[in-house]
Amino acid sequence: MEKIFTFTANNLDDTNLIALKFAKAVEKAGAFVCLYGDIGAGKTAFTKLVAKHLDVKEKVTSPSFVIINEYLSGKLPVYHFDLYRLEKEGVRTIIDELTEYSRPGVLALVEWAEFSDFELPFDRIEIKIEYIDENQRKFDFYAIGEDYKKLLEGIKD
Ligand SMILES: Nc1ncnc2c1ncn2[C@@H]1O[C@H](COP(=O)(O)OP(=O)(O)OP(=O)(O)O)[C@@H](O)[C@H]1O
Ligand SMILES: [Mg+2]
Repeated sequence: MEKIFTFTANNLDDTNLIALKFAKAVEKAGAFVCLYGDIGAGKTAFTKLVAKHLDVKEKVTSPSFVIINEYLSGKLPVYHFDLYRLEKEGVRTIIDELTEYSRPGVLALVEWAEFSDFELPFDRIEIKIEYIDENQRKFDFYAIGEDYKKLLEGIKD
Protein backbone atom coordinates (compact mmCIF):
# COMPACT_ATOMS: atom_id res chain seq x y z
CA MET A 1 0.00 0.00 0.00
CA GLU A 2 1.48 3.30 -1.10
CA LYS A 3 0.38 6.78 -0.07
CA ILE A 4 0.03 8.83 -3.26
CA PHE A 5 -1.10 12.20 -1.93
CA THR A 6 -2.72 14.17 0.86
CA PHE A 7 -5.46 16.73 0.30
CA THR A 8 -6.57 19.15 3.01
CA ALA A 9 -10.14 20.38 2.68
CA ASN A 10 -10.83 23.57 4.60
CA ASN A 11 -14.57 23.18 4.05
CA LEU A 12 -17.17 21.12 2.22
CA ASP A 13 -16.54 23.10 -0.99
CA ASP A 14 -12.95 21.85 -1.00
CA THR A 15 -14.17 18.31 -0.42
CA ASN A 16 -16.46 18.84 -3.41
CA LEU A 17 -13.43 19.76 -5.55
CA ILE A 18 -11.52 16.58 -4.73
CA ALA A 19 -14.73 14.56 -5.18
CA LEU A 20 -15.11 16.05 -8.67
CA LYS A 21 -11.54 15.15 -9.64
CA PHE A 22 -12.02 11.70 -8.21
CA ALA A 23 -15.32 11.16 -10.04
CA LYS A 24 -13.74 12.14 -13.37
CA ALA A 25 -10.84 9.75 -12.77
CA VAL A 26 -13.09 6.74 -12.06
CA GLU A 27 -16.05 7.39 -14.37
CA LYS A 28 -14.81 5.13 -17.18
CA ALA A 29 -13.03 2.20 -15.54
CA GLY A 30 -14.71 2.22 -12.12
CA ALA A 31 -12.84 1.55 -8.87
CA PHE A 32 -13.03 -0.26 -5.58
CA VAL A 33 -12.62 2.24 -2.75
CA CYS A 34 -12.37 1.73 1.01
CA LEU A 35 -13.15 4.80 3.12
CA TYR A 36 -11.62 5.02 6.59
CA GLY A 37 -12.26 7.54 9.32
CA ASP A 38 -14.11 8.00 12.59
CA ILE A 39 -17.84 8.60 12.87
CA GLY A 40 -18.56 11.99 11.29
CA ALA A 41 -15.24 12.15 9.43
CA GLY A 42 -16.98 12.53 6.08
CA LYS A 43 -17.06 9.09 4.41
CA THR A 44 -20.72 9.45 3.44
CA ALA A 45 -20.31 13.15 2.59
CA PHE A 46 -17.50 12.31 0.14
CA THR A 47 -19.55 9.47 -1.38
CA LYS A 48 -22.55 11.78 -1.91
CA LEU A 49 -20.38 14.33 -3.71
CA VAL A 50 -18.71 11.71 -5.94
CA ALA A 51 -22.14 10.28 -6.83
CA LYS A 52 -23.42 13.77 -7.70
CA HIS A 53 -20.51 14.27 -10.12
CA LEU A 54 -21.28 10.91 -11.71
CA ASP A 55 -24.80 12.22 -12.38
CA VAL A 56 -26.49 9.85 -9.92
CA LYS A 57 -30.07 11.12 -9.82
CA GLU A 58 -31.27 9.33 -6.67
CA LYS A 59 -30.82 10.81 -3.23
CA VAL A 60 -27.72 9.18 -1.74
CA THR A 61 -28.29 8.13 1.87
CA SER A 62 -26.14 6.31 4.39
CA PRO A 63 -26.47 2.52 4.03
CA SER A 64 -25.85 1.99 7.77
CA PHE A 65 -28.92 -0.22 8.25
CA VAL A 66 -29.12 -1.86 4.84
CA ILE A 67 -25.37 -2.52 4.38
CA ILE A 68 -25.51 -1.66 0.67
CA ASN A 69 -27.21 0.95 -1.51
CA GLU A 70 -27.19 0.64 -5.28
CA TYR A 71 -27.41 3.60 -7.66
CA LEU A 72 -27.84 2.83 -11.34
CA SER A 73 -28.87 6.22 -12.74
CA GLY A 74 -25.39 7.73 -13.17
CA LYS A 75 -22.47 7.38 -15.56
CA LEU A 76 -21.64 3.97 -14.08
CA PRO A 77 -23.20 1.72 -11.42
CA VAL A 78 -22.36 2.97 -7.92
CA TYR A 79 -22.49 0.63 -4.91
CA HIS A 80 -22.20 2.22 -1.48
CA PHE A 81 -21.47 -0.12 1.45
CA ASP A 82 -21.47 0.52 5.18
CA LEU A 83 -20.13 -2.55 7.00
CA TYR A 84 -20.41 -1.09 10.52
CA ARG A 85 -23.34 -3.28 11.54
CA LEU A 86 -21.71 -6.47 10.29
CA GLU A 87 -18.66 -6.20 12.55
CA LYS A 88 -15.61 -8.36 11.98
CA GLU A 89 -17.20 -11.80 11.80
CA GLY A 90 -19.94 -10.58 9.47
CA VAL A 91 -17.50 -8.99 7.07
CA ARG A 92 -15.65 -12.30 6.86
CA THR A 93 -18.82 -13.93 5.46
CA ILE A 94 -19.24 -11.40 2.61
CA ILE A 95 -15.67 -11.20 1.29
CA ASP A 96 -16.62 -13.14 -1.84
CA GLU A 97 -19.48 -10.71 -2.53
CA LEU A 98 -17.19 -7.73 -1.95
CA THR A 99 -14.67 -9.22 -4.36
CA GLU A 100 -17.33 -9.26 -7.09
CA TYR A 101 -17.71 -5.51 -6.75
CA SER A 102 -14.02 -5.03 -7.57
CA ARG A 103 -14.82 -5.70 -11.23
CA PRO A 104 -14.16 -3.10 -13.96
CA GLY A 105 -16.86 -0.63 -14.88
CA VAL A 106 -18.46 -0.28 -11.47
CA LEU A 107 -17.67 2.01 -8.56
CA ALA A 108 -17.78 0.49 -5.08
CA LEU A 109 -17.33 2.77 -2.06
CA VAL A 110 -17.05 0.94 1.25
CA GLU A 111 -17.34 2.49 4.70
CA TRP A 112 -15.96 0.57 7.69
CA ALA A 113 -13.89 -1.89 5.65
CA GLU A 114 -11.48 -1.99 8.62
CA PHE A 115 -13.78 -4.65 10.00
CA SER A 116 -12.01 -6.94 7.59
CA ASP A 117 -9.03 -7.54 9.89
CA PHE A 118 -7.27 -9.39 7.08
CA GLU A 119 -5.95 -8.30 3.71
CA LEU A 120 -8.68 -7.87 1.07
CA PRO A 121 -7.74 -10.05 -1.92
CA PHE A 122 -7.89 -7.44 -4.68
CA ASP A 123 -6.46 -4.08 -5.79
CA ARG A 124 -8.16 -0.99 -4.42
CA ILE A 125 -7.96 2.64 -3.37
CA GLU A 126 -7.98 3.48 0.31
CA ILE A 127 -8.97 6.96 1.47
CA LYS A 128 -8.30 7.88 5.10
CA ILE A 129 -10.28 10.88 6.27
CA GLU A 130 -9.24 12.71 9.40
CA TYR A 131 -11.41 15.21 11.29
CA ILE A 132 -9.38 18.38 11.98
CA ASP A 133 -12.15 20.74 13.07
CA GLU A 134 -15.82 21.35 12.31
CA ASN A 135 -15.20 22.13 8.63
CA GLN A 136 -11.63 20.98 7.99
CA ARG A 137 -10.68 17.43 6.97
CA LYS A 138 -7.46 15.73 5.85
CA PHE A 139 -7.78 13.15 3.04
CA ASP A 140 -4.94 10.65 2.51
CA PHE A 141 -5.15 8.68 -0.73
CA TYR A 142 -3.47 5.26 -0.95
CA ALA A 143 -3.17 2.87 -3.88
CA ILE A 144 -2.98 -0.92 -3.79
CA GLY A 145 -1.97 -1.98 -7.31
CA GLU A 146 -0.28 -0.26 -10.23
CA ASP A 147 -3.46 0.80 -12.07
CA TYR A 148 -4.80 2.61 -9.03
CA LYS A 149 -1.40 4.18 -8.42
CA LYS A 150 -1.52 5.67 -11.94
CA LEU A 151 -5.12 6.77 -11.46
CA LEU A 152 -4.33 8.64 -8.23
CA GLU A 153 -1.13 10.14 -9.63
CA GLY A 154 -3.32 11.63 -12.35
CA ILE A 155 -5.35 13.67 -9.87
CA LYS A 156 -2.84 14.56 -7.17
CA ASP A 157 -2.00 18.05 -8.48
N1 LIG B 1 -14.70 19.51 4.68
C1 LIG B 1 -15.65 18.60 4.94
N2 LIG B 1 -15.64 17.43 4.28
C2 LIG B 1 -16.58 16.48 4.53
N3 LIG B 1 -17.59 16.62 5.44
C3 LIG B 1 -17.64 17.79 6.11
C4 LIG B 1 -16.68 18.82 5.89
N4 LIG B 1 -16.99 19.85 6.71
C5 LIG B 1 -18.07 19.50 7.39
N5 LIG B 1 -18.49 18.27 7.05
C6 LIG B 1 -19.65 17.59 7.62
O1 LIG B 1 -19.22 16.49 8.39
C7 LIG B 1 -20.25 15.50 8.41
C8 LIG B 1 -19.66 14.17 8.00
O2 LIG B 1 -20.63 13.17 8.22
P1 LIG B 1 -20.65 11.80 7.43
O3 LIG B 1 -21.99 11.21 7.64
O4 LIG B 1 -20.17 11.99 6.04
O5 LIG B 1 -19.57 10.96 8.28
P2 LIG B 1 -19.17 9.44 8.13
O6 LIG B 1 -17.69 9.40 8.06
O7 LIG B 1 -19.91 8.82 7.00
O8 LIG B 1 -19.65 8.84 9.52
P3 LIG B 1 -20.28 7.40 9.90
O9 LIG B 1 -19.12 6.57 10.38
O10 LIG B 1 -21.24 7.71 10.99
O11 LIG B 1 -20.94 6.82 8.68
C9 LIG B 1 -21.33 15.96 7.44
O12 LIG B 1 -22.38 16.56 8.19
C10 LIG B 1 -20.62 17.01 6.60
O13 LIG B 1 -21.48 18.00 6.10
MG1 LIG C 1 -21.25 7.23 6.86
